[in-house]
Amino acid sequence: QELRGHVSIVLLGATGDLAKKYLWQGLFQLYLEEAGKGHNFSFHGTALTATEQGQEIVAKVLESLSCPKDVAPARCAEHKDQFQRLSQYRQLKTTEDYAALSKDIEALVQREGLWEAGRIFYFSVPPFAYTDIARSINSSCRPGPGAWLRVVLEKPFGHNHLSAQQLATDLGSFFREEEMYRVDHYLGKQAVAQILSFVSFQKQAAASLWPQHWVPPVLPLKPCPQAPRRTSFYEEYGVIRDVLQNHLTEILTLVAMELPLDVRSSEDVLRHKLQVFQALRGLRKGSAVLGQYQAYSEQVRRELDKPAGFLSLTPTFAGILVHLDNLRWEGVPFLLMSGKALDERVGYVRVLFKNRACCAQSEQHWVAEQSACLPRQIIFHIGHGALGSPAVLVSRNLFRPTLPGSWEEVGGPPGLHLFGRPLSDFYAYSPVREQDAYSVLISRIFHGRKDSFITTENLLASWAFWTPLLDSLAGEAPRLYPGGAENGHLLDFEFSGGQLSFSVQQPEQLVPGPGS
Ligand code: BG6
Repeated sequence: QELRGHVSIVLLGATGDLAKKYLWQGLFQLYLEEAGKGHNFSFHGTALTATEQGQEIVAKVLESLSCPKDVAPARCAEHKDQFQRLSQYRQLKTTEDYAALSKDIEALVQREGLWEAGRIFYFSVPPFAYTDIARSINSSCRPGPGAWLRVVLEKPFGHNHLSAQQLATDLGSFFREEEMYRVDHYLGKQAVAQILSFVSFQKQAAASLWPQHWVPPVLPLKPCPQAPRRTSFYEEYGVIRDVLQNHLTEILTLVAMELPLDVRSSEDVLRHKLQVFQALRGLRKGSAVLGQYQAYSEQVRRELDKPAGFLSLTPTFAGILVHLDNLRWEGVPFLLMSGKALDERVGYVRVLFKNRACCAQSEQHWVAEQSACLPRQIIFHIGHGALGSPAVLVSRNLFRPTLPGSWEEVGGPPGLHLFGRPLSDFYAYSPVREQDAYSVLISRIFHGRKDSFITTENLLASWAFWTPLLDSLAGEAPRLYPGGAENGHLLDFEFSGGQLSFSVQQPEQLVPGPGS
């Protein structure tokens, strides 16, 4: 089989947590998928960690890699062995180190009688290191003419509009826009990646329903039960910067965008996503409800060595009501919610359809129920929660959806209720093969699918939307809520007369703060 060219993948921060947990596995997955198709790879783990120690860490990670269930153990061992032979670790510190790496890649390509197709640099390092690394790659480690360069960047991309702009300008002096792949790992989650193709697959059934009949609220919700792991990072960023400005905003643009003629065209998708930002109505303080779990300040005092009595103002919960000023979404509220230390960990996008419109369309069903209409909803279940796996759920009283062959109809465990309804109320679909978000994204980087990543324009548009709200909330005390399931805490919301309000089960424990 003719070789399609050599691709070297340089993993910066190869001994860190993200690399150990997801990135090496994602690279192995890429190797499993592509090596058989004639692509030729080398994998270069790098970090500031000294060579010997780094080699030990990486060797352990490589040993722990796993194959998909359908690969027989003996075959898997063979693949792992080949992958280990193609992978190495080296310390990478100075510009000279980058130049030496470049020479080694060239020598390898020549020795094997290959041609160089491209290089991928995955930045799994803190953003303060970005500029120096970018400078070294640009000056000393670019591939030769005819080969492509892709650099993959992890959030945070700035703290507000100004700092994001600064970082973008710095990176832009070393890399061209098409060379940069900014990761939002939610775009690699299978249920999120399914939103656009779902809408395009249901043209017949959903197109008439999709915009006009959605009513309160379109609800991307992403609570997490755990306390934040990196307290110093979290204390500086808080929930809006950590989750809403990126993950939930990306989801919002996917849900609200006009359907491009060709959903497989990266350019079209990115252009349509950007148009959503132009329609977003500016946020007011009253559109936001912020909270903080009660034990948070104590955690910050303990871990960051703050004086007794220190009270953090960082929100760990946010519920934000968003509107779009365009014809399609007129009067349709979008509610974005996320929080730490809540009672349940689950992530979803929930689309609720107007009840009255639905009742009128299904008189029979309504009569059969002898009660108010059942809720009509489409849920993109991103993960976690009682269902665990990614899923797309469509109320049976809405329509039977068509999904691509990589998704299959499923039934959950008996007795499972979701959003107050038995699972049997839904047509439910899950991916035939579950994949980790990072594996999905690494494959897309390899294939140059830019629509799964954040462009500079998109990033700055998002910060331009969020920064005024963040500025106006700075210095405000969030409401306190008791964190964790053991406290029986439950956040709920109510929507009536165009107004949003939140309640918790133990309101007496709340102190006043911004929002209603
Ligand atoms: C990260 C945030 O980007 O996403 C975390 O920094 C958050 O605070 C995480 O918990 C959620 O991702 P997942 O994949 O666990 O749902």
